[in-house]
Amino acid sequence: MAITKLLEHPDPLTYEPKTEIGRKAKKNAQWLYYNGGRYWNGYKNAVPKYSLAVLFSSFLMGEIAAATIFHQMAAKCTEPVFQEGFRKVGRDEGRHMAICMALMERDYPKMDLSDKQLITKQIRAGFLFLSGVLFEPPEDFWDIPADFVPAQREIEAVARNAGFYIPEYEAKKDNWCNAMLNLKGVLDKYGIPFPAIPEVGITGEEVRDVDMQDIIPVF
Ligand SMILES: [Fe+2]
Repeated sequence: MAITKLLEHPDPLTYEPKTEIGRKAKKNAQWLYYNGGRYWNGYKNAVPKYSLAVLFSSFLMGEIAAATIFHQMAAKCTEPVFQEGFRKVGRDEGRHMAICMALMERDYPKMDLSDKQLITKQIRAGFLFLSGVLFEPPEDFWDIPADFVPAQREIEAVARNAGFYIPEYEAKKDNWCNAMLNLKGVLDKYGIPFPAIPEVGITGEEVRDVDMQDIIPVF
């Protein structure tokens, strides 16, 4: 509703921008949309292949990250409508998190060992995928042009100054690191090795062969 009201157009992908920053924003939105489409196909192939236990470890990661970032956005947003909106989305994400944890508590104690390696790999893949939205997209995994990240930083600064809070690079990195450590705390309980995530300073098991075909992207 806010986008439609401000742009007088319902869809950011077909909107014709009137400013330079608007053109950059539209181009980046199109790149995100394109990459999201690639992973959606991967997701559809992956879902029937894996057990619920494996799927929910990937989902949990997305929910933890989303809950953290929306709470952070709500705390520093200066537009009351968005502040309230982010607070409620954050609460909703917290509920999704609880659903995943309940399923994991039910299924993990009886999980067979071969699934544990798969979960470690999925967590690494989920980190790479979600970084595109919650941190900065790693270029070897995301199909984006070289000007994507600089444009994104510029666009986010404009939004931040307008009162629509988006964490800066260091805050995003801390947020992402904390979300990963929360997830690690859950997986440690079940003896599932955590992958190394050097991007945010987490050591762990080296995961090299992240194959697009096998990953379960989380949204
Ligand atoms: Fe969610």
